Amino acid sequence: MANTDLMDKLVSLAKRRGYVFQSSEIYGGTGSVWDYGPLGVELKKNVKDLWWSAMVHQREDIEGLDAAILMHPKVWEASGHVEGFTDPLIECGNCHRRFRADMEEVAAGQCPTCGTKDTFSEPRMFNLMFKTFMGPVEDDANQVYLRPETAQGIYVNFLNVQGSARQKIPFGIAQIGKAFRNEITPGNFIFRTREFEQAEMQFFVEPGADEEWFEYWMEQRWKWHLALGLREEKLRWLEHGPDELAHYAKKAFDVAYEFPFGWKEFEGIHNRTDFDLTRHQEYSGKRLEYIDSGSGQRFVPYVIETSLGIDRTVLVILADAYREEEVEGETRVVLSIDPSLAPLKVAVFPLVKKDGLPEIATKLHEGLRKAAIPSFYDAAGSIGRRYRRQDEAGTPWCVTVDGQTTDDDTVTIRDRDSLEQIRISSEGVLPWIRERLTPGC
Ligand code: GAP
Repeated sequence: MANTDLMDKLVSLAKRRGYVFQSSEIYGGTGSVWDYGPLGVELKKNVKDLWWSAMVHQREDIEGLDAAILMHPKVWEASGHVEGFTDPLIECGNCHRRFRADMEEVAAGQCPTCGTKDTFSEPRMFNLMFKTFMGPVEDDANQVYLRPETAQGIYVNFLNVQGSARQKIPFGIAQIGKAFRNEITPGNFIFRTREFEQAEMQFFVEPGADEEWFEYWMEQRWKWHLALGLREEKLRWLEHGPDELAHYAKKAFDVAYEFPFGWKEFEGIHNRTDFDLTRHQEYSGKRLEYIDSGSGQRFVPYVIETSLGIDRTVLVILADAYREEEVEGETRVVLSIDPSLAPLKVAVFPLVKKDGLPEIATKLHEGLRKAAIPSFYDAAGSIGRRYRRQDEAGTPWCVTVDGQTTDDDTVTIRDRDSLEQIRISSEGVLPWIRERLTPGC
């Protein structure tokens, strides 16, 4: 399958099955933001829950936080975003479309939209932060930004969290939330958008211990990605060269996935040194030092950051799971999403719409829902078509109630990936599913 085909197929499947819709579609869409449908919102939530569980619930040394999107404008001066969070922008002299000057085609002098050569303007630096106003007066004094990263909410709360949770260094603060960037060239579906979600963790360590902790977090995050069920050969580390490092970073490695459009990052691990806390000290005039209660030693901690893009992770999961297979002379499309992430865990079908089978199937389905197992009831169309719909939706198991059920109270469970079918008692379905949903990460 050609790579562009795969992206087209993913976009179309995502819409057909209710994973992702274009934002404001009835008005022609925006192209730079997307909405998550019934299955997409579940997949996204499952990714966030697994991250939160691994980073916060399973650890004593990381605390959670939910800081506001709108922050004091000085935060972004201190963080360096007002001055340095820019991309070089150039404009085509023919069609007047604007592009990032560092895009491959653009750097070669050709407009990606109209194909005209060598008519680009001189590059100028464009700040990616969205601006708005706080309160009813729209003047410079009231200008605020939509946060371009969640990290700053953590830095400004460093001492609040440390003091209230009585944490000792080394410890971390984690949060999940929306971030906004006025990207010059968004694209590739949910890969680069103007509104997206990040799951970020800042780990505060003693200066000098930062390199060791950097290695530690690289290892932890790699394991987490594998526990999502991703193919390891599709993952690799990409190190930032000296001219690629963000203004705050001393060292950075990205976890990259081989998307249909190339190897691209979806998580960054950064050694941010004491850059952010030191700058916030300077700009706020408040001390942001850690005081060791034992030794009395005071210092501004170094920070190791792990920064995961949730939307990009969803795209990784969809791209990694997508398969087309020949089954009995027909092509089936299947999303082999790990059961722990799959939006629907099970679908329940009556084989036919008579002989009391719908009633038994409905009861089974409702029992699963009450037990908090996302289940889907489907009695429409041939059994083959019902299986195909669930294969595309990524549902790991389909349970069918048939004639034999009325005799011996057994049902079949069909596995999405192996296509194997087993027969078990209908009351055994819930424990059978629960056993297979034990979290892997
Ligand atoms: N706090 C550090 C930081 O924000 P980043 O490398 O700029 O670092 C981290 O972003 C992650 O956020 C990326 O790896 C990516 O997954 C996600 N991300 C960044 N910009 C994005 C965009 N325009 N659309 C979707 N995800 C984006």
